[in-house]
Amino acid sequence: MKINSNTTDINIKRITALETYPVRHPVLREGRPFETCKMEADDLESTFHFGLYYKNKLVGVATFMMDKDLRFTEKKQYRLRGMAVLTAYQGYHFGKQLLQFAEQFLKVNKVERVWFNARTKALSFYKNNGYNTYGSIFDIPDIGPHYVMSKIL
Ligand SMILES: CC(C)(COP(=O)(O)OP(=O)(O)OC[C@H]1O[C@@H](n2cnc3c(N)ncnc32)[C@H](O)[C@@H]1OP(=O)(O)O)[C@@H](O)C(=O)NCCC(=O)NCCS
Repeated sequence: MKINSNTTDINIKRITALETYPVRHPVLREGRPFETCKMEADDLESTFHFGLYYKNKLVGVATFMMDKDLRFTEKKQYRLRGMAVLTAYQGYHFGKQLLQFAEQFLKVNKVERVWFNARTKALSFYKNNGYNTYGSIFDIPDIGPHYVMSKIL
């Protein structure tokens, strides 16, 4: 399959929590029940879900929830969760485009800072997108080693 991420075949938009599952499940919850895709705060009005469609197929998702980490001082902080791109579509800058679209949306909505727990595997992806690590590495049971990462929008 030839993939070209610089085309008009890409459409990024807000989607529902349920719509994220076909990407969340294989990428982030592989081998576990489908219901494990559900996250607290998924259905709150303040939560935003974004999907990237390539040739009308959903290939990337990301969720942003209003949540404050006390190590940061900004009043309006959002937490990124469930960032995933289907395996066959990784490495083509779909993740980058999705993140940039979401950051712009959050900025317009006066969000000052984004933070999240990043899997160490994804560290370079987030660093390339302007995020820094904070504190020490820590373990999330059943998922693996993580860092807190963040950036001011
Ligand atoms: C992390 C993730 C969302 C990034 O999305 P993506 O579309 O693959 O990311 P991009 O293509 O925008 O950027 C990936 C970088 O790695 C490079 N890369 C090369 N081959 C790659 C591959 N097979 N997979 C991923 N990245 C690859 C890309 O060139 C790019 O580098 P650059 O920015 O220096 O050019 C995606 O890889 C993913 O879903 N990973 C598994 C789940 C995960 O770890 N999620 C994060 C939880 S915190």
